[in-house]
Amino acid sequence: MAFLTFIFTLAWHAFGLFIVVLFFAFLCYCVYVKYIHLKYDHIPGPPRESWLFGHSPIFQRTMKNDGLVHDVFLEWAERYGAVYKLNLLHHVLVFVICPETVKEVLMSSKYPKDLFLHTRLFSMFGQRFLGNGLATARNHDQWYKQRRIIDPAFSSLYLRSLTGTFNERAERLMTKLADIADKKSEARMLELVNRVTLDVIIKVAFGMDLELLEDTSLPFPKAIETCLQGMILNTRNVFFRLHPKNWAFVEEVRAACKLLRSTGTEWIQNRKLALQSGADVPKDILTQIIKSAGKEENMTKEDEEFMLDNFVTFFIAGQETTANQLAFCIMELARHPHVMEKAQKEVDDVIGMKREISYDDLGKLVYLSQVLKETLRIYPTAPGTSRELVEDIVVDGIRVPAGATCIFSSYVSSRMERFFKNPLEFNPDRFHPDSPKPYYCYYPFSLGPRSCLGQNFAQMEAKVVMAKLLQRFDFALMPGQSFDIRDLGTLRPKGGVICTVTHRKHYCQ
Ligand code: HEM
Repeated sequence: MAFLTFIFTLAWHAFGLFIVVLFFAFLCYCVYVKYIHLKYDHIPGPPRESWLFGHSPIFQRTMKNDGLVHDVFLEWAERYGAVYKLNLLHHVLVFVICPETVKEVLMSSKYPKDLFLHTRLFSMFGQRFLGNGLATARNHDQWYKQRRIIDPAFSSLYLRSLTGTFNERAERLMTKLADIADKKSEARMLELVNRVTLDVIIKVAFGMDLELLEDTSLPFPKAIETCLQGMILNTRNVFFRLHPKNWAFVEEVRAACKLLRSTGTEWIQNRKLALQSGADVPKDILTQIIKSAGKEENMTKEDEEFMLDNFVTFFIAGQETTANQLAFCIMELARHPHVMEKAQKEVDDVIGMKREISYDDLGKLVYLSQVLKETLRIYPTAPGTSRELVEDIVVDGIRVPAGATCIFSSYVSSRMERFFKNPLEFNPDRFHPDSPKPYYCYYPFSLGPRSCLGQNFAQMEAKVVMAKLLQRFDFALMPGQSFDIRDLGTLRPKGGVICTVTHRKHYCQ
């Protein structure tokens, strides 16, 4: 009995001590948060809604009410000017709109991608996701080594050789749309273009043939969407995982990441076997990914994981943003018949009745390029990027101390009257070759060394799909469509761009 009393007293004291230590740790943390506030409070910004959680409740409320946080960022940019700060626990986010600073930071390799976002993309809910792949690597040397090896798969020579594949996959969409037009059923454009771009990346990057437009049972589109949803919840709500009501979804996200990674394991293994047997394999992204991981003889577990990081990076980065751009573009063309008419006329002049669009034809589709650029101005499907400040900088006369995370939002600056007159008006003439180029206020593919590797790939693909669509079909939005934006980290049209499609009179199948 005495022994039990002794154990109980010991446990009670240990518990008491634990509470005291916890309390003390919390107190120290609060002092640290106060220090951070003092360090950055000279930078303008909206008032904190919570002393500890900062502006985070505003994000949570906006997302809960189905609003767009980027519109809140835009409103604050209009109110607070070239630079403003937000707090989130001990983290400080500094929004930079000033074009000079956008240039200074993004064009330099001195500022790494920020740790906060990197940690949440490296793995999601304990399951490795993008790891140290090309888009997320923070260490400059590690990133540079990968980029140098993967670059050849995006050279203009190599891209030129992909024109045939772009044509062939886009042709599958045209067949599907012809069927929809004949049956007079509705075309869910976002879903359709999503399947085409996935089809393309799987073929071009990994050499695999899947019938994504026909076989709707394939799990990849859903897995990608689940990963994106997980990404946004994991980054915008640091406590998401702790709430029991979210545990089922957390498991779904983990399973989706696992599916992509296990698919990567299988496809990489097959390619390695083909390489070993001396087969004639394409010099595609998969081959480059394998090369970037190191020598076969001394490949470590981390090398294997690293290849999967890049596999998932290309699976996600190489498809969804392009599909969303196409869907927004179709939506805006349907809303602006005079733009559609002009784009159709250009396609008729350059391509005529040809089925195979050549690389040189693409260069001649100048107005279509303008339309695609204007689409990304109003709807930058990857809305921004972030960097960690490794040293103090001065933005518009305001000193921003090192340690903060700087956010650069193409969504915000592209929609500011200060940079674009009537910013919400869809006007491709802004990008006329003779018009002045926007000065560091339009960067849908980011800028500088960490800018999008797939920019030319994506715009070639988008042009082939749009040119064929404009060549063959008239399309109109079904009544009652929403023009709102859905935010999944990347932006997509909330209404899904549901259209009626009819054959153009002059074009017979
Ligand atoms: C309309 C389509 C696309 C848009 C708007 C877009 C936008 C972007 C942006 C803004 C970044 C920088 C991200 C950041 O700093 O966090 C980026 C990076 C990247 N994108 Fe894209 N992207 C598109 C299509 C593609 C495609 C088709 C591919 C591959 C086939 C691709 C591959 C990459 C890669 C590998 C990176 C990381 C580059 C690096 O850090 O070295 N993207 N993209």
